[in-house]
Amino acid sequence: MSDLEKINSIFNAKIDSVKSKDELQNLKTDFFGKNGQITNQFKNLGSLSAEDKKEFASRLNKLKDSLSKQIENKNLEIETQEINEKLKNEKIDVTLPIRSYRQGKIHPVSQVIDEISSIFSEIGFSVAEGPDVETEYNNFTALNTPEDHPARDMHDTFYLDKDKRLLLRTHTSPVQIRTMLNEKPPFKIIVPGRTYRSDSDQTHSPMFHQLEGLHIDKNITMSHLKGCLDYFIKEFFEVKNVKMRFRPSHFPFTEPSAEVDIGYRLENDKIVIGEGDKWLEILGCGMVHPNVLKNVKVDTKKYQGYAFGIGIDRLAMLKYGINDLRAFFETDYRWLSHFGFDPLDVPTNYRGLSK
Ligand code: PHE
Repeated sequence: MSDLEKINSIFNAKIDSVKSKDELQNLKTDFFGKNGQITNQFKNLGSLSAEDKKEFASRLNKLKDSLSKQIENKNLEIETQEINEKLKNEKIDVTLPIRSYRQGKIHPVSQVIDEISSIFSEIGFSVAEGPDVETEYNNFTALNTPEDHPARDMHDTFYLDKDKRLLLRTHTSPVQIRTMLNEKPPFKIIVPGRTYRSDSDQTHSPMFHQLEGLHIDKNITMSHLKGCLDYFIKEFFEVKNVKMRFRPSHFPFTEPSAEVDIGYRLENDKIVIGEGDKWLEILGCGMVHPNVLKNVKVDTKKYQGYAFGIGIDRLAMLKYGINDLRAFFETDYRWLSHFGFDPLDVPTNYRGLSK
C-alpha cells in the first residue's frame, strides 16, 4: 500500500466515528494542520525527481480534495443533526396546564370610598383631599378646639415633633380649613382619607378612614343636613326606608352638634339596616361653628352650613359583613381575596335607588 493509500484508509476509518464539531476539528488538524499527514506529504514533494513529482502531486491533490470534501460533508451532517435535536427539545407541549396566577382585588375600603364619592357627586359634592401630616393649627386650633381639650392629649394624638406643631391628623376636618382658606364660598365638598388616633382593639385601629362633608352657602339649615344624610344612607345601603335619629352631642367646631344613629335589626345574626328597634352610631355632624368660619375669613352674616364626619371602615364592615376592623389593615392576601372586589366586576347597583 502506498503512503497515500494508507493515509486515505486511516482517514476513512476515523471520519466514520466523528460525532461532534470538536472531533471533526481534531481530525482536520491531524491531516491538514501544520504537522498534518497531508501537509507533510506536500513537504516531501521537494525531494522527488521532476517526473515523480508531477505524478505524485496529482495523486496527492486528488486525495486532498477528496478528504476536504468529506470533512465538509461531515460538518454539514453534524449541523443538521444539531438543528434537529434543538427542534425536538423546543417542541411546545400545548397539553401542559397553565401556570397559576393571582388576580388582584380591590380593597373594601377603596371600594366603599368609590361608592360614597359617586353617591355624593350626584347631589353636587366634589372630592377634596389633604395631607395625613397636619399642623396643630389646622387639626385643632382653627377648628375652635380649646387649648385644654382632651382630644389634644398626647394619649390620643400622634405628635411628630417636640413642640407639638406637627401631627398625624386625628380627623379629616382640617381639610375643611384648607379648603375654606384657599377657595371662595360656597363650599360643597366631601373628603375621604386616612386618619390616626392612638387606639387599638377589635373596633379601633390606630389608622382608620373618615369621610368629611362640608356644605356652606347662603341659607343652608339643619334640615339640609338631615336631607343629605337621609339620601346618602338610603343610597349607600340600598334600602328604601331608613330610621335615623339625631342625638345631641358636642364638637368644638359645630353648634349645634349631633351624633346620628341608624335603626337596624338582626336577622340570623346578620345586621339588616333601615328598620328595627336597635340603633347604631355612624357619624358626627352639626352646623359649622361661627368661630370656625371667622378663622377662615368667611362672612358669617352671609354664609352658614353644615359639616359631618363618617367612619368609612365602619360603613364597609356593615355593608359587606366584615366583623373585625383590624383585618382591614393586616394585608393578608387570603382575606383580601375573600372580601375584596373583582376589578372587572365591581358592584354597580349602589346607584340603583335614585334611578
Ligand atoms: N371630626 C369629628 C370626629 O372625628 C366628626 C365631625 C365632623 C363632627 C364634622 C362634626 C362635623 O369625630
